Amino acid sequence: MNTQKVSIVTGGGSGIGHAISIALASAEQYIIVVDLSLESAQTTVDEIKSLGGNAEAVALDVSNHQLTKETFDNIADKHGRIDVLVNNAGIGSVGTLEQTPEDELDKVYRVNVKGVYNCAQAVVGHMKKQQSGVIVNMASIASSVGIPDRFAYSMSKGAVLTMTYSIAKDYVNDGIRCNSVAPARVHTPFVDSYLEKNYPDQVDEMFETLSKTQPIGRMGTPKEIGALVKYLCSDEASFITGSNFPIDGGFVTINN
Ligand SMILES: NC(=O)c1ccc[n+]([C@@H]2O[C@H](COP(=O)([O-])OP(=O)(O)OC[C@H]3O[C@@H](n4cnc5c(N)ncnc54)[C@H](O)[C@@H]3O)[C@@H](O)[C@H]2O)c1
Repeated sequence: MNTQKVSIVTGGGSGIGHAISIALASAEQYIIVVDLSLESAQTTVDEIKSLGGNAEAVALDVSNHQLTKETFDNIADKHGRIDVLVNNAGIGSVGTLEQTPEDELDKVYRVNVKGVYNCAQAVVGHMKKQQSGVIVNMASIASSVGIPDRFAYSMSKGAVLTMTYSIAKDYVNDGIRCNSVAPARVHTPFVDSYLEKNYPDQVDEMFETLSKTQPIGRMGTPKEIGALVKYLCSDEASFITGSNFPIDGGFVTINN
């Protein structure tokens, strides 16, 4: 049985999920770092431990319904509770409606939409039993604004936003809070691999262009997203549910 708050962070092996895991560990929480790649999850765990925190790595494909349920049930059995779920695992996709083949749409749906459903459904019963819990979903500016060439990705992040509202509504009387955060461009391996794949000869130039898309003139940092999620998972945020938090350098409201 764990006396610390037990928090699951999906996609915790890289980028934003890595920073969220470190931030939650700094709030004395026990972190279960879930990722497709056990190796990268373990790297995050090692860093948390080197900073004096407690964590463990779990390999899981969140798009697998049955496996997600079994894995999260095992976590609840082992630790006696699940206090926090951060649904952060996600994949990108570039292309307009016409440039998005069916298998690409299905792949993005399976990870970004069904992954959130799988993980949230697998924890909510445990949280109901406790009559407490926090779920934070990783949305995006693409949840609410038209972004060029991001048809499948926008479809998935719009669903993340509305699943957030739905979960918040249905479980408000069970002591469960559910919110989402909606970053603009954040400098992570996600961005680096996008640039290397799509603009191999203009990486620096395109990095600059992407930075300037945010009115504030730069990309966000994973650490900044981690700090917001840490707050939303804390007891200080106990009056906040059913809300979406843009963290976007002014992208949505002051872009012109
Ligand atoms: N980086 C950005 O600019 C940005 C902006 C807005 C929203 N987001 C969202 O933030 C989240 C994290 O993005 P990032 O930039 O840190 O990406 P990243 O690629 O650096 O990290 C994503 C992590 O998720 C893991 N993952 C992918 N599919 C998985 C699956 N099926 N099961 C388990 N783990 C899986 C990957 O292995 C990786 O470790 C994503 O949901 C992304 O859509 C990112």
